[in-house]
Amino acid sequence: MGKDSLLSLLEAEAGEYVSGEEISRKMNVSRTAIWKQVRKLETEGYIIEAVPRLGYRLTGKPSRLSVHELLPKLNTRSFGRNLRLLNTVHSTQDELRGLAEQGAQEGTLVIAEQQTNGRGRMGRSWISPAGKGIWMSLLLRPPVPLPHTPQLTLLAAVALSRAISRIIPIIIGIKWPNDLLVDGKKISGILLESAAEDERLRYVVVGLGVSVNLEPEDYPEELLLKAASLKMVSGSTINRSDLIAAILEEFERLYGLYLDEGFAPIRALWEAHSVTLNQQTQLNTPQGSFVGVPRGLDDMGGLQVELEDGSYRTVYSAEVSGV
Ligand code: BTN
Repeated sequence: MGKDSLLSLLEAEAGEYVSGEEISRKMNVSRTAIWKQVRKLETEGYIIEAVPRLGYRLTGKPSRLSVHELLPKLNTRSFGRNLRLLNTVHSTQDELRGLAEQGAQEGTLVIAEQQTNGRGRMGRSWISPAGKGIWMSLLLRPPVPLPHTPQLTLLAAVALSRAISRIIPIIIGIKWPNDLLVDGKKISGILLESAAEDERLRYVVVGLGVSVNLEPEDYPEELLLKAASLKMVSGSTINRSDLIAAILEEFERLYGLYLDEGFAPIRALWEAHSVTLNQQTQLNTPQGSFVGVPRGLDDMGGLQVELEDGSYRTVYSAEVSGV
């Protein structure tokens, strides 16, 4: 018996109890097997009540995103207007890259309920359970030189942090370059992947992962010290469509500002939200590790770090942590 047939059986009873005996008989499986499938469904967001002698009944289903709910909330010109809402994918980054190669327009968005191979920066994996987060990739075709792409990473972090603050009243800090932290725990991650040809930037796939309604059980134990969801930090379940709409609106607005006025206004906003500046910091770069005090961003989006002897070093790629 698979979890899907158990689900169909419970759904057919529309909220009424189905006894374990009946399930065993209809599905030709043991009580232990039923229990295992119930646990699987629960990890997907179904709520199943189990009462001795009465049996099982379905009392809640995972909330699903829908185009009908999302589109009327969108307040954008192009971001999210060409939308693919998918159920399970390896990574939304790969789905969108495929569309980009076929010529999809700027603002095209791929959202998935679940990713089986969600990826993060530095080759890490990204936990993306079904129905509990925002796992999406946005296509940009910015008319800027290739070395400017780090600026978009920082822009994405500012957009995301402003959008989340619109939906729930929490203080978000940006850890360089683009981790969003609440009380020191990471609630969201951004991954930019670009395609270039002869030094010309063809397109950028902006991957946005927001841990919205995940529960502590969704994380491996060792991650719980470092990561949390918006639900865990705020105590409330958040409507994902509202948040997606807010992210797209903030992103489109800041991107417009960036194309009109350059990086300076984005840099000022990023610096105002940063929790990395003016703290003694350990920086692990591909060229080696060192300690210094980040003081601000340079014109390209690099982090300017003051060293002990008063000199400055600029880094474009590093893992940063407090010392
Ligand atoms: C990080 O902080 O390491 C970046 C995480 C980025 C995760 C998002 S979820 C949507 C998109 N698809 C992926 O596979 N990754 C990004």
